[in-house]
Amino acid sequence: MTEPSPDQIRELRALAEHLARSAGSLVREGRPDRVDVAATKTSDVDPVTAMDLAAEAHLRALLAEHRPQDGVLGEEEGLVPGSTGITWVLDPIDGTVNYLYGLPAYAISVGVVVGDPDPATWTPVAGAVHAVPLDITYTAGRGQGATKDGLPLRVNDPRPLATSLVGTGFGYTVERRVVQARVLAELLPRVRDIRRIGSAALDLCRIAEGSLDVYFERGLNPWDIAAGQLIVREAGGVVTGLRGAPAGVEMTVAGPADSVSALAELLRQWGADRDA
Ligand code: IPD
Repeated sequence: MTEPSPDQIRELRALAEHLARSAGSLVREGRPDRVDVAATKTSDVDPVTAMDLAAEAHLRALLAEHRPQDGVLGEEEGLVPGSTGITWVLDPIDGTVNYLYGLPAYAISVGVVVGDPDPATWTPVAGAVHAVPLDITYTAGRGQGATKDGLPLRVNDPRPLATSLVGTGFGYTVERRVVQARVLAELLPRVRDIRRIGSAALDLCRIAEGSLDVYFERGLNPWDIAAGQLIVREAGGVVTGLRGAPAGVEMTVAGPADSVSALAELLRQWGADRDA
């Protein structure tokens, strides 16, 4: 399909924001004092809660009402293809471990992409990330900038890695973590410091607002990055993979262009896009 017009992008962005905020209210108001794990995914430490499932069902119901012909790809229920060339890519709670423990870094991520819902080829056109406990919303529209609660966002100017605050995240399997630990041991002495916040969507928003300088993670799924990737790009940053590949499950690196190049080169040398 051809890209949506600027007016259509404005509408998609507004709807993405509405969805993210609406699911945010559900998650905020419905959080019990003690959250239970309903199931696990890639390993015993990769949880799903009843609220992940309820929030995704809520988002899908809103889309059935507002955009019944579009496709939907969600973390919990997978892909339902549409007929318009537009797919909504949903993470009902990004940062489920933080949600489980009551740590205030979890978000609803709603991305809108054109083309196959595959980060290798898609074009993200609109998105919203709602930081639930903080009640902050980041949005972007392709060619229309990125905002945090309505105020424009801009990534930091590039700075040397030695004075950069670097965000990252870890996978849930032993084979992946063994390599990630090795990469961290190489990286930590070379940078200002490292943050593991626990929500990839919020990590990307932090790049866009300049509260992190550069970010990398292996193993991110389409729903982790669909909205955040656009928010970074529209804030003047780049989001890419290693060895000329696009961002995606193998590796995602985000930040100002020069910082991303410098970090991506080190990650390539260390084989950070492999598992043990
Ligand atoms: C996770 C978070 C985390 C990242 C993991 C993701 P989820 O998403 O974004 O920061 O390190 O790779 O799976 O499972 O909480 O939606």
